[in-house]
Amino acid sequence: MVNPKVSRHPTICYRPIRPSDLMILQQLHADAFPIRYESEFFQNVVNARDIVSWGAVDRSRPNGHSDELIGFVTARIVQANESEIGDLLSYDSAKSDQTLVYILTLGVVDTYRNLGIASSLISEVIKYASNIPTCRALYLHVISYNIPAIHLYKKMSFKCVRRLHGFYLINGQHYDSYLFVYYINGGRSPCSPLELVTVAVSYMRRGLNSVAARLRKNEEKWPKWAKCKESRRLVGTQGRRNLTAECTGCECV
Ligand SMILES: CC(C)(COP(=O)(O)OP(=O)(O)OC[C@H]1O[C@@H](n2cnc3c(N)ncnc32)[C@H](O)[C@@H]1OP(=O)(O)O)[C@@H](O)C(=O)NCCC(=O)NCCS
Repeated sequence: MVNPKVSRHPTICYRPIRPSDLMILQQLHADAFPIRYESEFFQNVVNARDIVSWGAVDRSRPNGHSDELIGFVTARIVQANESEIGDLLSYDSAKSDQTLVYILTLGVVDTYRNLGIASSLISEVIKYASNIPTCRALYLHVISYNIPAIHLYKKMSFKCVRRLHGFYLINGQHYDSYLFVYYINGGRSPCSPLELVTVAVSYMRRGLNSVAARLRKNEEKWPKWAKCKESRRLVGTQGRRNLTAECTGCECV
């Protein structure tokens, strides 16, 4: 996408993403991320199928561009007890009705960066999630070298709770990710001694499982796999499709 010039007085508005945004949304994702998203993901976003989204537009842009997206955020509601951060919530996360909001993707066109647009988009998601009585937290992953994004999440009081080693596989190279959480509606991290021990045990078990899985994988000499965040789905890179890095509906990198 050609980076649009920002007028001296941009008039930024926020609105839901809709079907007519499909092309530009795909383009913005291609520009912002080192991975490709499947068309199903975009269809789900623009048709609001299990995904909520907000777009930013600059009403001051001329020539019919005043409703064109210059920023976006997409998110999904997940069940707390099925999520990977169930152990990072206090005891009531075991209740089956507890939910979380997972931020999938966030991006702002180059020329519109550092104007507070991403902060406003995240505020929209926080407002939305806070209005869901069962929702206890928002969370997201960010690749460890994405300094502007990490700065943004810290500025917005997200807590960095985990570093996940080799979480991403992009063009054959592994990268770590940080897991950020923002608690809402009385959600909190475990803090009683028993809760902390439970978290530590679960964390160690997760680490051991991951080491064991890697060893098994090496032994079996399977083709390399690209890990798809959030759903933890594995996508074969030597399958029929020649994937560099592709996901169906995950991530912030
Ligand atoms: C990350 C991103 C969404 C931020 O969008 P934005 O609209 O510029 O964000 P905001 O203006 O709300 O806030 C940006 C903050 O990051 C800071 N920042 C920008 N570049 C930075 C850098 N290189 N190092 C540290 N901080 C930086 C800004 O100073 C600002 O903080 P401040 O308000 O304290 O000054 C945007 O850079 C982007 O689209 N990046 C590509 C896609 C991406 O990485 N998405 C996030 C994936 S997790």
